[in-house]
Amino acid sequence: MRKILIKNIKGLVGVLEENTAALRGDELNQINILENAFLAIEDGKISFYGPMDELAGIADWTDLEIIDAEGKFVLPAFCDSHTHTVFAASRENEFEDRIKGLTYEEIGKKGGGILNSAAKLANMSEDQLFEDALARLELMQSYGTGAVEIKSGYGLSTAAEIKILRVIKRLKAASPLTIKATFLGAHAFPTEFKENQEGYVDLIINEMLPIIVKENLADYIDVFCERNYFSPDQLDRILTAGLAAGLKPKIHVNQFSVLGGIGIGVKHQAVSVDHLEEMDENDIAILKEANTIATALPSCSFFLGIPYAPVRKMLDNNIPIALATDFNPGSTPSGNMQFVNSLACIQMKLTPTEAVNATTINGAYAMEIANELGSITIGKKANIIITKPMPSLAYMAYTFGDNVAEQTLIF
Ligand code: NIG
Ligand code: FE
Repeated sequence: MRKILIKNIKGLVGVLEENTAALRGDELNQINILENAFLAIEDGKISFYGPMDELAGIADWTDLEIIDAEGKFVLPAFCDSHTHTVFAASRENEFEDRIKGLTYEEIGKKGGGILNSAAKLANMSEDQLFEDALARLELMQSYGTGAVEIKSGYGLSTAAEIKILRVIKRLKAASPLTIKATFLGAHAFPTEFKENQEGYVDLIINEMLPIIVKENLADYIDVFCERNYFSPDQLDRILTAGLAAGLKPKIHVNQFSVLGGIGIGVKHQAVSVDHLEEMDENDIAILKEANTIATALPSCSFFLGIPYAPVRKMLDNNIPIALATDFNPGSTPSGNMQFVNSLACIQMKLTPTEAVNATTINGAYAMEIANELGSITIGKKANIIITKPMPSLAYMAYTFGDNVAEQTLIF
């Protein structure tokens, strides 16, 4: 049995005796930090922690790997609950088009965007997609990520959607990170279904979903509900079929317009509703009463130059919020959760404490893994970040663009 002792920790962040529910409102701004602490790990699980002067309480010192964390912080690894990590190619040509004045929506309408990514993915082998995604996961881990949700959605045909989901299944087995898979066949209408949208919805429901269920390829179902993409009625139909197939919703809503997708998601017991750059009072009222987690994606707003989700207002209304990267080649070419922490503070006016909670424990709730990850709790997986020496926890969000993670331990 592998035993590790981390000693002299300047601040052990995110200590939680036991989980109850995702943090809401004022709870987000509280985090337990044990100063001058130790943390013991046995067989990949947190077995013990406490102040350094109680270290003598460790019974068995044989075969113990010791890490000295003098001046360093230890925190739960980030849980990135919204990504599109499996894709074929980058899209910096569209980035240049946007610099010259085109909007993201205009590029999409011209057949760029998601359709551009789908055309490239159709020609790439499953093995190559797997290798590339695995390398991206390694990079994300180096920035402190310990769990990742990954969506399909750049296939848009039965064969290609299944190809992506099989890649995610292989990633689950090959990567040390904890991974959840989401089926996002309803990401855009493929060109051949432009005049027959219902035909594509039928294909998702009647052809793709049965294979996904049979091969156990997904944990969740997602739909991009937006003008020029999937309508609220189509969202409703797809979520109904998904739930019948055992897939709970985690959905893309309110990125550019308010169409009522949040209410439909909550009606279908969505685990999370994500994006939320555009929100009206009715959306806030619905989320206030729900257990659905509102997931904001500040790096997407940063990269596209669109509004940031009104997270401060959601917190004032006691809504549970999480923050994720949205890592994808079109709207967010970054899987860096430390940058998400910085943007949340700088642009959304979250405190550094709120940002850490929203990227750790609440991220874990947004992918239903809070019983095993997201906090420093005895019995949980010891997926943790050991930082470089730093003066305070707030320094992590403050020093934007830097990587303060010295190592991310993953079990
Ligand atoms: O979450 N908005 C929908 N889907 C992705 C971006 C897709 C793309 O541009 O490739 C998102 O931002
Ligand atoms: Fe997304």
